[in-house]
Amino acid sequence: MDKIEVEGGVRLSGEVIISGAKNAALPVMAASILGPGENLISNVPQLRDISTMGKLLAHLGMGYHQENGGVILQSSDITSIEAPYDYVKTMRASVLVLGPLVARAGEAKVSLPGGCAIGARPINLHTIGLEKMGAEISLSEGYIHAKAKKLKGADIYFDIPTVTGTENLMMAATLAEGETVLENAACEPEVVDLANALISMGADIRGAGTRIVKIKGVTGLSPLNYRIIPDRIEAGTFLAAAAITEGDVGINNCEPGHIESVINKLKETGVEITHETDRLRVRGPARVNAEDIQTRPYPGFPTDMQAQFMALMTLAEGTSLITENIFENRFMHVAELKRMGADIRVEGSIAKVKGIRALKGAPVMATDLRASASLVVAGLAAKGTTIIDRVYHIDRGYESIEEKLKVLGARIRRIK
Ligand code: EPU
Repeated sequence: MDKIEVEGGVRLSGEVIISGAKNAALPVMAASILGPGENLISNVPQLRDISTMGKLLAHLGMGYHQENGGVILQSSDITSIEAPYDYVKTMRASVLVLGPLVARAGEAKVSLPGGCAIGARPINLHTIGLEKMGAEISLSEGYIHAKAKKLKGADIYFDIPTVTGTENLMMAATLAEGETVLENAACEPEVVDLANALISMGADIRGAGTRIVKIKGVTGLSPLNYRIIPDRIEAGTFLAAAAITEGDVGINNCEPGHIESVINKLKETGVEITHETDRLRVRGPARVNAEDIQTRPYPGFPTDMQAQFMALMTLAEGTSLITENIFENRFMHVAELKRMGADIRVEGSIAKVKGIRALKGAPVMATDLRASASLVVAGLAAKGTTIIDRVYHIDRGYESIEEKLKVLGARIRRIK
């Protein structure tokens, strides 16, 4: 298993280019099921999760290959309606094929994802929504089986705004008979990107990015030719890395409007951030001030940035209260940060982080994607060497992380 070794203490400086958003690319790839023919998607990051989705789509009978920073998906024929356990257990986002498969093929069998490192993460809201649209849902041998000759438009209210749930039902509704109204829908930029991709295929969708999304079913969709938005969480992670190292970094090809909550919070801690259209410049102070955060659905502070922000707060002046409201078990990085000397106490969904003067390098373990990013951020500022084990987690979501950090001067390398 690969490890990453970071020798801390270098002030990051220079320019970094942000990749396409993993969490936008995955649903857009699944949307290609809906447009029979050759689907071209560009600005797709080269990541493990992307190839897992590609392999899953190939398993359904589609052609899949990666080319020049993009993917080509040939979806003229769908020969299987099953997303097997092997794919779903590697990547929960595999459930994104559920909605489009039922809409196109009238049937889908998708392995039920289990709990994961950050929480139970049920998908009941996806299946309740499909049921409202007329699908017959059954569960057997760990698989959800959804069947509907033709889905029908419905009014669906989400008890909790769910990102992939909104995406699944939005895709299903594009080919349904009549209008579907999704209420309390997720507003994340990735949901909007999927809506824009579907609209470019001929779908009739209004209101994406607000709490109420209206989809009028159409009789067919054309293949995609679409460019994915920049990854806001990768951009946020580089903001944190620059801030914690007292660095001076230009973050290019990003969409500052998608991470305003993170930018504003970092500014409150004393980080200097200026922005142009698709570029941010960040300058870290000698020491940041402690600030509290509460993770919330978009446009609130993203749960996917909580761990990296916590890494920054371990070295802040003062005490920071970090409340995780989205997932019930997303503090796995705390024990690892403590191994580096951080002073953190967790009570329920709140972590109390008392800033210290210096972290010390240590061997640590990555437990999920964003937790591993937080350990890299902490390692960059720590005294001595940090060795991060199980970096396959980071490879799921950060394209060329060591190369990008090396360009900024970091002393980082992968141990095979
Ligand atoms: N929930 C339910 N029932 C459902 C669906 C969700 O109770 O049917 C709950 C979840 O358990 C959670 C909350 O609703 O407490 C929100 O979960 P959501 O469904 O929005 O999460 P997701 O769609 O499974 C996506 C991202 C995650 C990101 C979350 C929150 C993708 C592929 N994944 O997950 O990204 O943390 O939204 O923003 O888009 C990551 O990239 O590291 C990652 C985990």
